[in-house]
Amino acid sequence: MGAFFVLFFLFRMSGVKMTEGSVQVEGCKAPLFYRQSEPATGEVKMSVLLLHGIRFSSENWLNIGTLETLAKAGCRAVAIDLPGLGRSKSAEAPAPVGELAPAGFLKEVCEQLSLSPVVVISPSLSGMYSLPFLFQHQALIRAYVPVAPICTDKFTAEQYQSVKVPSLIVYGDQDTQLGEVSLSNLSNLANHSVVLHLYKRMERHGLVPRKEGAKLPTHAQTFTPTHIQGIKQNQTRNK
Ligand SMILES: *[C@@H]1O[C@H](CO)[C@@H](O)[C@H](O)[C@H]1NC(C)=O
Ligand SMILES: *[C@@H]1O[C@H](CO)[C@@H](O)[C@H](O)[C@H]1NC(C)=O
Ligand SMILES: *[C@@H]1O[C@H](CO)[C@@H](O)[C@H](O)[C@H]1NC(C)=O
Repeated sequence: MGAFFVLFFLFRMSGVKMTEGSVQVEGCKAPLFYRQSEPATGEVKMSVLLLHGIRFSSENWLNIGTLETLAKAGCRAVAIDLPGLGRSKSAEAPAPVGELAPAGFLKEVCEQLSLSPVVVISPSLSGMYSLPFLFQHQALIRAYVPVAPICTDKFTAEQYQSVKVPSLIVYGDQDTQLGEVSLSNLSNLANHSVVLHLYKRMERHGLVPRKEGAKLPTHAQTFTPTHIQGIKQNQTRNK
């Protein structure tokens, strides 16, 4: 159910078309706000759905340049404000924070916005939305990029092993608790690699993402979880 709402405005920057809009998802009462970027040429290689954590919104993906970067790379990127947050404040969340939302929630978002097969980027809080979607609608997901999502402990190793979607687990070496739990759980995914952000090294190079105007980290490398354990042990030893 629910209609595709109008685009509020449109502007162009260096080959990138940026729009804003809203999408009505059943049960949310109020529409969900989103920002969209796409190549101005209209030639789209793949679609990306950007989710966010509890203290964030689609605005952060705009401010750190991710929407623009993805469009320049030929992607159509849609960053939504999750129910109750950002400019979707009056939309009702389908589940309380920390509990799994119905898998149909993101399915409906993707259907309304014609995003599938979609690459899902899911930090922190958004795990309560993305994980049920991943487990129940693999065919709609082109790739899964979890960034220390919540709720990973609500699924079994067998469930993870049954997911064939290519997954890139983003893990920061300064992530404690949530990062570690989610890494150990997500490592059960059948087809995964891990990208490790070395915070200290990024800091030395002035690339700490929280700093305004910082560039995207170029020091991220892919590692296996065993390798990451080794690095962490070394760090502990060197303290
Ligand atoms: C994992 O995903 C990649 C990217 O789609 C694919 O090339 C590769 O064959 C997959 N590997 C397995 C074991 O399924
Ligand atoms: C998820 O991680 C927690 C904490 O490390 C662990 O107790 C649990 O067994 C893990 N579950 C799976 C399926 O890996
Ligand atoms: C840990 O430190 C040892 C000794 O310096 C080094 O040989 C090894 O490569 C390090 N391991 C990792 C995973 O960085």
